Amino acid sequence: MTASRERIDEPTYVSGPPCLIAGSASRHLAQRICELGGFAQVDVELTRFPDTEMHVRLVESVRGHDAFIIQSTCAPVNEHLVELLILIDTLSRASAGRITAIIPYYGYARQDRKSTGREPITAKLVANLISAAGANRVLAIDLHSPAIQGFFDIGMDHPTAIPLLANAIRNKIPPDSVIVSPDTGGVKRADFFASQLHLPIAILHKRRADGANVEIAAVIGDVRDRTPIIVDDIIATGGTLLEAVETLLRAGARPDVHVAATHGVFAGNAAQRLTHPAIKQIVVTDSIETPVGLREALPTLEVVSIAQLLGDAIYRLHNGLSLSALFNVNGIPPI
Ligand code: R5P
Repeated sequence: MTASRERIDEPTYVSGPPCLIAGSASRHLAQRICELGGFAQVDVELTRFPDTEMHVRLVESVRGHDAFIIQSTCAPVNEHLVELLILIDTLSRASAGRITAIIPYYGYARQDRKSTGREPITAKLVANLISAAGANRVLAIDLHSPAIQGFFDIGMDHPTAIPLLANAIRNKIPPDSVIVSPDTGGVKRADFFASQLHLPIAILHKRRADGANVEIAAVIGDVRDRTPIIVDDIIATGGTLLEAVETLLRAGARPDVHVAATHGVFAGNAAQRLTHPAIKQIVVTDSIETPVGLREALPTLEVVSIAQLLGDAIYRLHNGLSLSALFNVNGIPPI
């Protein structure tokens, strides 16, 4: 057996029920998962040294336990990422039987390849760091690119929240709606969403000028006199959505736009940018906790919870059951 194969193998000594450890980015979500699934949570003492270095201590033993850390690597991204690595190291040194990092929102994912010279591939770097810290398994929801799964040489699970988002929109749209991918990279995601609602799709051809500015060069598909539902993985600055909405309106779509995205990053003045008269509904999940005041600033926002989905995944992983029911929805394999 080669060294890399050994890395993929699961540890053999896991005893007792699963235990959850909440990182500071995902406390509410972890709490909800515990309530729904009846899981125990291990408390963590997180303190700072005077120079801001982080110190973590688990308040009870996890020896032999099947441990699940819940931590999104959302803003402040570097803080939450380092906290995740420190939690993994802590569990490893406390002799947890198996360590699964549940990362509802996997940050740094958008740099998943070099698009020009002298650039990093941060999605791979983060995967390396998580493995090196001692995680045995990783689970993330709706990665920016599904190919990031292959950046891990440890077990990697990738359930989708698309059916949850589709259900939140299903009864609010007319039958002649159209699902829109705001860029060519999101076509498979939009296609899977469309299959949930039995609707056609249209595709926008997006070019990104920089982190906050995009331009849309073409609309592929029929959007005239239809209600558009824009499906994306991330809402960050809102630039992509805003440009997509303006382009769709110019192409004759109804001013009755719905938006579904798994991860509501809402950076900077995104809420202000997305307060647009044509946007009637924006649905995201709680993979990232909703910032205080955002719902008031953006009344069209709805948040659906992935707590049940993650609870099911934890139950299945712990009991050695297949996760395929979380991947194949209505018999259709996603993305
Ligand atoms: C890009 O490829 C992603 O799928 C999203 O469209 C993008 O990250 C959204 O970012 P923003 O809201 O800043 O335009």
